[in-house]
Amino acid sequence: METWDAIRSRRDVRQFEDRPIPQEDLDLILEAGRRAPSSGNQQRWDFVVVTDRAQLQELSRVWRGAQHVAASAATVALVAPSFEAPKERESVAYDLGQGSMSMMIMAADRGVGSGHSAVADQDLARKILGFPEDRFCAFLIPMGYPADGPLRPRRRPNRRPIEEVVHWGHWGGKRVPTQEVLSPGGR
Ligand SMILES: Cc1cc2nc3c(=O)[nH]c(=O)nc-3n(C[C@H](O)[C@H](O)[C@H](O)COP(=O)(O)O)c2cc1C
Repeated sequence: METWDAIRSRRDVRQFEDRPIPQEDLDLILEAGRRAPSSGNQQRWDFVVVTDRAQLQELSRVWRGAQHVAASAATVALVAPSFEAPKERESVAYDLGQGSMSMMIMAADRGVGSGHSAVADQDLARKILGFPEDRFCAFLIPMGYPADGPLRPRRRPNRRPIEEVVHWGHWGGKRVPTQEVLSPGGR
């Protein structure tokens, strides 16, 4: 898939087919995350991969918005050091966002749907995943083949208009976007 198509095809998927992701695709997705840039190249992340159905069902209980974890083919848990200082917390959160997005775009490239989930119950997450006391589970990324059909480029994503989001040169600066942005191919 072209990068532009992978970017336009990615959407948050919360219902998955009961079909495993081939190991080589999962490996590529995880490698995309490992290659993500991070503040000072500190790479303050570990990825715990869960594919066992009973463990996934258990993991889906860490937050009420994590129910889609239960039926995923695989879920990647992003584990990071716990920091008190806001500066550290914010920079690790930014890094984790970059790693997440790299994995999600790579997943879309392979036709694999993914969705985010926050984590509320850290004790339960720690019990299920076994990460050390000085770490926390920042996010879960459940993955699998979308139950409502393959990923396809979205023509009209549910987003604020480009003219409102992008400011050219200064706040409020306007430019007409190119045709492919105004009227992209896809559904
Ligand atoms: C930081 C972050 C946390 C999120 N947490 C959850 C969550 O706990 N559960 C969930 O179902 N979706 C979660 N989402 C998914 C968002 O709701 C989703 O990305 C947004 O609605 C856009 O969806 P779309 O890309 O399919 O248009 C989260 C997304 C982000 C970026």
